Amino acid sequence: MAIGFLQRKASWETLLKVSSGIFADQALEKVLKSYQFNSLDIAFITELSFGCIRYRKFLDLWIDHLSKIPHQKQPPKLRWLLHIGLYQLLKMDKIPFSAAISTTVEVAKKTDLSGLTGTVNAILRNAVRKIEKENLPKISSDAVERISYLESLPLWLVNELINWFGIEDAENIAKAFNKKPSIDLRINPIKTNLDIFLKVLHENNINAEPIKNLKNGITLISNPRSIKTLPGYGDGFWTIQDRSSQWVAPLLNPKKGEKILDACAAPGSKSTHLAELTNDNAEILAVDRSEKRLKIIQSNLDRLNLNSVKTLKADATSLLDLNPNFRSHFDKILIDAPCSGIGTLSRNPDARWSLNKDKIKQLIFLQERLLKSLVQLLKKDGILVYSTCTICPEENNLLIKRFIDKNDEIQLVSQKQILPKIDYPGDGFYAAVISHK
Ligand SMILES: C[S@@+](CC[C@H](N)C(=O)[O-])C[C@H]1O[C@@H](n2cnc3c(N)ncnc32)[C@H](O)[C@@H]1O
Repeated sequence: MAIGFLQRKASWETLLKVSSGIFADQALEKVLKSYQFNSLDIAFITELSFGCIRYRKFLDLWIDHLSKIPHQKQPPKLRWLLHIGLYQLLKMDKIPFSAAISTTVEVAKKTDLSGLTGTVNAILRNAVRKIEKENLPKISSDAVERISYLESLPLWLVNELINWFGIEDAENIAKAFNKKPSIDLRINPIKTNLDIFLKVLHENNINAEPIKNLKNGITLISNPRSIKTLPGYGDGFWTIQDRSSQWVAPLLNPKKGEKILDACAAPGSKSTHLAELTNDNAEILAVDRSEKRLKIIQSNLDRLNLNSVKTLKADATSLLDLNPNFRSHFDKILIDAPCSGIGTLSRNPDARWSLNKDKIKQLIFLQERLLKSLVQLLKKDGILVYSTCTICPEENNLLIKRFIDKNDEIQLVSQKQILPKIDYPGDGFYAAVISHK
C-alpha cells in the first residue's frame, strides 16, 4: 500500500487523541490498532504525528501567517489537520507539495471536516506560495522568542535553558528535543549475548548495531512494526532501555549477595539491570508507590525470568517508618527519582506542553525528601546513586550540592550529566554517586 490518505488520517487521529489528554505514545498505539499498517507506514505516521506535536507552536505561527483566523480561534479539528498538512510542507523534505496537499485535503473530504475541504486546500496552497516566495512568518530577533518559535518550545523553558547553559548550548539542546529518538535495547546476558542476538536480528531482516561503550546495548536502525514483536522479547532476551539510562545501574557496582534497594523502581528497567549485573544473585527490593506500575515490574521480572528482585508497594519517603530494621540495612541504594523528564523531550513529544515551573518545584520538594529519608537506609560503607532523566540543575547537581552541604557525614564520589545533543542519539540524563565519609 502506498503512503497516502489513510496514513495522514491516522496521524490526524493521533493528534485528536493527544489533544484530548492522552499521552502521544498511547494515542498512537490506540490509533494503529484500527488499521493494518506495515512498518514503513508506521514509521511515516510516527514521524508525522509526533513531529506535529513537537512543532505545535511553530505550526501555529504558520497558521497565523496564512489565515485571517488565528490558530486559537480555529476549530480544533481543523487546526490539527492544518498541522498535518503544514508539517509535511515545512518539515518533510521527501514529500512533494502536491501529494502533501491532496492527501490532507482528502482527509477533510472523507471525515466530518468535509465542509471545510476548500479552506484546507486554500490555506495549504497559500502556504506553498509563501514558501516558494520565501515569505516566512516574522519572528522577533530576540533569542528567546526566536528559539521558542523555531524549535517550538514554551517561552519559560527556553528562558530556563538559556539561564542554565547559555544561548549556544540552549539552542543546540532545543534542536535536539526535536530529533527522532533512538530505539535502544539492553541484552539480558543471563539468556544470550550481543553477538548471538545481533545475528538473530539480522536473520530476521532487522538492522541493528552495538552501542559504543555499552557492554550489552544495541540500537535498532530499522523501524520495527511493534518493538515487542521482535524476536526474543517473550523469552526475556532483552529490555527496551535508552542508552543513557543503561549506564546508571553499573554506577552502583552491584555484587552477588548484596542487599540493594531500588526506591523508585517502576517499570523496572534498572531493577532488572541490577539483577542481570549480579547474575540474579543479589537481594534486590524494588519499591514504587504506584500499584499499577509495580505490576509492570513484576511482568518484566517474569518475562526475563529474574528471581532476585522482590517488589513492594510503598512511599519510599516512609520506608523507615514502615520497617525500622531498614536503618543502615542496604549495601546499595538507587533513587531514580521522579523528575521533570526534560532530558527525554524528544522521546515524549507532548511533554513540553504539559510541564511547567510549578510542577518542577513540587518535584524538587519530593526529590529532597527521598534523599533525606533514604540515606538513613544506607550501610556505613554503602553507595547511593541518585539519578534523573532531566537536565534541570535544580533537580540535579544543585540539589545534590545542597543536600551534601547540609550533611556532614556524606560525600559526593562522582557525578555525570549527559545533555541532549543533535549528534548524540540518547536522552539527557544525570547521576550522582554518594557515599558516607
Ligand atoms: C523515573 S521513574 C523510575 C523509572 C525506573 N527506575 C526504571 O528505570 O524503570 C520514577 C518512579 O518513581 C515512582 N515514585 C514517585 N514518587 C514515589 C515515592 N514517594 N515513593 C516511591 N515511588 C515513587 C513513580 O511511580 C515512578 O514509577
